[in-house]
Amino acid sequence: MTDLTVNQAKRVLVDGVPIALVLDGQGDVHAIGDTCTHGDISLSEGFVEDDTLECWAHGSQFSLRTGKPLTLPAYEPVPVYVVQITDGDIFIDPTVTKEIS
Ligand code: FES
Repeated sequence: MTDLTVNQAKRVLVDGVPIALVLDGQGDVHAIGDTCTHGDISLSEGFVEDDTLECWAHGSQFSLRTGKPLTLPAYEPVPVYVVQITDGDIFIDPTVTKEIS
């Protein structure tokens, strides 16, 4: 957690699954799939804006809470992973995604 910078995404591999971690301004940590659903682009190389992570390639903004793209050209969501923080350490199980309705 200490190596996360507020509103700056960090790419991590958990059991080979690329995940973009974002610490937001409220202190919440988000974990979403790092690969844009429009192309093979790492979302963590993009920009955090409000509650979204923007793909630098064509500008789709993915919600950090739902994984859904809020702007085209992407239209498929990325997975959102459950984040557990214990004693400042971040735990993510890449097989456990949030149920988003
Ligand atoms: S590759 Fe991400 S929006 Fe096109």
